Amino acid sequence: MTDLAGKIALITGASSGIGAATALKLAAAGVKVGLAARRADRLEALKEEIVHRGGEALVLEMDVVDAEAVQAGVDQLVEASGAIDILFNNAGVMPVSEIDELKTGEWNAMVDINIKGVLNATAAVLPYMIRQHSGHIFNTSSIAGRKVFGPGYTVYSATKFAVSAFSEGLRMEVGKKHNIRVTCIQPGAVATELPEQTTNPEKRRQLDAYRAAIRFLDPEDIAGAVLFAAAAPAHVNVAELFVLPTEQA
Ligand SMILES: NC(=O)c1ccc[n+]([C@@H]2O[C@H](COP(=O)([O-])OP(=O)(O)OC[C@H]3O[C@@H](n4cnc5c(N)ncnc54)[C@H](OP(=O)(O)O)[C@@H]3O)[C@@H](O)[C@H]2O)c1
Repeated sequence: MTDLAGKIALITGASSGIGAATALKLAAAGVKVGLAARRADRLEALKEEIVHRGGEALVLEMDVVDAEAVQAGVDQLVEASGAIDILFNNAGVMPVSEIDELKTGEWNAMVDINIKGVLNATAAVLPYMIRQHSGHIFNTSSIAGRKVFGPGYTVYSATKFAVSAFSEGLRMEVGKKHNIRVTCIQPGAVATELPEQTTNPEKRRQLDAYRAAIRFLDPEDIAGAVLFAAAAPAHVNVAELFVLPTEQA
């Protein structure tokens, strides 16, 4: 097993949902966590909770779309901690709408945050991990990055297919050469704030109805899967984590 105590992690999208749950779980395992997102008040509250439980955390307010801000946050974490061992590319948005609504602003936000955000954070940490000759990058795709869902999810699916493809290529490029592990996480339905960005009332109603129809995963369930892959022995790369609610088709 890889001993996680004393490792340093950056978690994007740590202000809610899967990111916040993973920060708590990694911190409980002794990982010092860099908490990245735009809502600094939420990050400060999470940091307080982590410290209260005996863990260590650093708040890094950033928009993952802003490559300079991401690099500054990563540099700050490394300066404060001496290394970066884990990057959890988790920040993402899913405003659901049908293509003929032409909500191009929402399409662009998904491309910028879900794809370019992953690239920005990866580019910021890679030089450090290459120098260390070690590291572990988690990228958050989705069940929607394996299969295209019905009307409304087209652009979201496209961004998550991109994340799945990027993860697989990245794994092949940095595994043997730089001793860096890459894990692509593909969750099914998780009970988080993700539906809240959907502005189409009918789509929002459908999302809420689905939430009521089956037992969703809790964010902690994905956090547990991240911990499992991170704690695997150094020669083991859990390349994909496809985790679904038992009741999800
Ligand atoms: N929930 C699900 O069913 C599900 C299923 C499959 C995959 N996923 C994926 O899981 C990841 C986490 O989502 P979640 O379900 O935990 O939803 P969530 O509770 O809405 O969390 C999303 C996180 O992303 C952050 N974020 C959004 N835009 C950002 C930006 N421009 N810069 C920095 N941070 C940003 C948000 O923080 P701020 O708003 O404070 O910046 C928030 O912390 C996403 O990539 C999502 O696509 C979720």
